[in-house]
Amino acid sequence: MVDTKVTLSGWELDNPVIPASGTFGFGKEFAELYDINCLGTFSFKGTTLRPRFGNPTPRIAECTAGMINSVGLQNPGVDEVLRVQLPEMKQYFHKKVIANVSGFSVEEYAQTCRKLDECGQIGLFEVNVSCPNVHGGGISFGTSPEAAAQVTAAVKKVTTKPVYIKLTPNVTDIASIAKACEDAGADGISLINTLLGMRIDLKTRQPVIANRMGGFSGPAVFPVAVRMVYQVSEAVKIPVMGMGGVSSAEDVIELMLAGASAVQVGAANLVNPYVCREIIEELPAVMERYGIERLRDIIGAAHKE
Ligand code: SIN
Repeated sequence: MVDTKVTLSGWELDNPVIPASGTFGFGKEFAELYDINCLGTFSFKGTTLRPRFGNPTPRIAECTAGMINSVGLQNPGVDEVLRVQLPEMKQYFHKKVIANVSGFSVEEYAQTCRKLDECGQIGLFEVNVSCPNVHGGGISFGTSPEAAAQVTAAVKKVTTKPVYIKLTPNVTDIASIAKACEDAGADGISLINTLLGMRIDLKTRQPVIANRMGGFSGPAVFPVAVRMVYQVSEAVKIPVMGMGGVSSAEDVIELMLAGASAVQVGAANLVNPYVCREIIEELPAVMERYGIERLRDIIGAAHKE
């Protein structure tokens, strides 16, 4: 019998499979399809201080091996998440959840996390400094080590829960940004968010996405995720949650070999809503095939000679 358990900052998960924020909402629609308590946990839709309607449509463009989204952080706002979504979630999800938080100023990140801190259902914060779809927030913090560190320090001041910073791949030196977050007190790093991409419609000769550009995700970005998880886990001592184009149990194992302590599954949920359950079911057989008894033993194994 293989052991799929992993730990994130003292929080033990039954397995490392975590649906990524923005691809799983607050879990309700997926809970209508299967019992989502089989998941390690999930990261809920990026939440901001105030409600957001999101970007104009079209917001999605399909690509050969992935998709582009420009959702623009549509969400009901932190007060509504606390009043409605989280109490409702108790009915169908009985584990702790990851709170994904976005903001447009350092203070806004901190205020949102301060409000959510009181909620016992939240196991850790995933602070998104990497959304490519909004101006003046998100990615502008994630492309500068100083700004990412400022957000980290401000959030750490308002919570005792572990704080993981979600980084953008749209930078030249992701390791230095991860290191700045670690030095500012981050408990973990989460990566990669989407790569900035664009499609143009041949008939209209105009961008497909109303916002012109958006975040590219899906199987095509997987090798980029492996490379960046490897680089970041070499640069920091804190745990890394890996994601980017994951769609199989083999991908989960590969990202863990690169250094991930847990693995998020994003765009694949939109292609096959059962994919996370399937990966969890397949994981023991794939572990056996590769001679892995305890999944946590392989974290970062690719770094050793
Ligand atoms: C969005 O809501 O625009 C996606 C969030 C993200 O990529 O960080």
